[in-house]
Order: sequence, then structure tokens, then C-alpha cells
Amino acid sequence: MSQVWDDVDDYFTAHLAPDDDVLQAALRDSAAAELPQVNVTAPQGKLLHLLAGVQGARHILEIGTLGGYSTIWLGRALPADGRLVSLEYSAKHAEIATRNIARAGLDKLVEVRVGPALESLPKLADENPPPFDLVFIDADKANNAHYIEWALKLTRTGSLVVVDNVVRGGRVADAGSDAPDVRGTRAAIELIGSHPRLDGTAIQTVGSKGYDGFALARVL
Ligand code: SAH
Ligand code: DHB
Ligand code: MG
Repeated sequence: MSQVWDDVDDYFTAHLAPDDDVLQAALRDSAAAELPQVNVTAPQGKLLHLLAGVQGARHILEIGTLGGYSTIWLGRALPADGRLVSLEYSAKHAEIATRNIARAGLDKLVEVRVGPALESLPKLADENPPPFDLVFIDADKANNAHYIEWALKLTRTGSLVVVDNVVRGGRVADAGSDAPDVRGTRAAIELIGSHPRLDGTAIQTVGSKGYDGFALARVL
């Protein structure tokens, strides 16, 4: 993408979100295993970490683990008795993530569950877990609105829902798009905007992953 976006991300990363050995190893081993390199950037990971801290999050749900890079940023915000459940479709991704999470010393707090999230979520709900304080949605974008519906069932008043990749180079503004990811993300934005128990916004971002953005919604 734009060189200046890369340069600014590098500058912010160096001063505000330094990648330590554990985070770098997670990316290195993910790349070596040929996982897609679509993890959040370091400054974005730091944002997730800060949001979890502001929430005082003790219970975090992530949908879309990949190699566990965002999981580590989020998991590091948890207290010693906290818990993070991360849902991942691909057994291969989950295996790499599990190793990366263990190297980060987070294996006692983090559980990666393999399978399509729309199958894992009802099973999780059946366990009646304590409400999740933060939900990070970053999986198949076609199901984004469904994931928000599940997040509502699994959270409490005051919980925070964060959705990655809501801009995708501007494609979100294309009302006529047939692309399942665009349609799913538009459905998610419109659900946030219309649901009586959600109060949210969305922010456009640029950086080393290009032009994209996050939606954030507070559960009322
Ligand atoms: N949150 C990660 C990136 C996730 S990439 C990070 O920032 O580090 C999206 C992930 O969602 C991929 O690993 C993909 O396999 C997974 N995924 C795709 N469809 C899914 C589904 N239906 N259920 C659960 N995970 C899914
Ligand atoms: C892409 C980026 C993401 O953050 C993601 O979760 C999935 C795909 C991408 O750039 O293709
Ligand atoms: Mg993403």
C-alpha cells in the first residue's frame, strides 16, 4: 500500500506497540506455516489490548483466531483469573495459534475452539459462561451480522463489540455489491445502527494493511 502508511505504522509500532520476541515469533511461525498474513497490525493489536484494559475485561470472546496474534494482544490484558475463548474454523490455524499462545504463557487463560463459529457459538451459549466483556469479530465477514447477534446473547450491559475490516478499501459503501463479505459487513453496520441494545460507530483506518476500519459497539 502507500509507503507513507507503512512508515507511520513502523514509527508508531516502534514507540507505542513494540513487537516483542513472542509476538514476532507468532508472526514468523504463522508465515512459515503459510497462514494468510492478515493479522491485525501491532498498533491495532495494541488498540485491542487497550480497549480490553479500559473495559476491565475478565472474559473475552474472539471469533477468528488465525495464528493467535490478536489473541496474544487481547490475552495479555486479562487478569490471572481471566479467560479468552477464540473460535477458529481451520484446525491448522488453531494448531499454530495454540503453540503461539503457549509460548506467550497464555495457555492457562486462552482456549481455542476449532470449527465453524456458527456451530461453536450455540455450544458455548449452552455452557452458560459468564458474560463476555469484550467480543472481537474477525472471521468470515459474510457472517458478521450473525456474529453480532451471538455477541448480544453472550455479553452484558456495558460490554464492547469490535468488528475488524468494516471498510475494505471503501467497498462497504457499495450498496449494490453482491460480494458476501460486503453484504455481511453492511448487515452488521446496519444492525449496530438499528438495534435497541447497541450503540456504535465505525472508524476508517489506513496503515500497513491498507485502507480499512473497525466498528465498535457498546451493549446497552
Ligand atoms: N484475528 C486474527 C486474524 C483472523 S483472520 C488476527 O488479527 O491475528 C480470519 C480467521 O477466521 C482465519 O483464521 C479463518 O480461518 C477464520 N475463519 C473463517 N471462517 C470462519 C468461521 N466460519 N468460523 C470461525 N473462523 C473462521
Ligand atoms: C484480510 C484482512 C483481515 O484483517 C481479515 O481479517 C481477513 C482478510 C485481507 O486483507 O484480505
Ligand atoms: Mg481482520
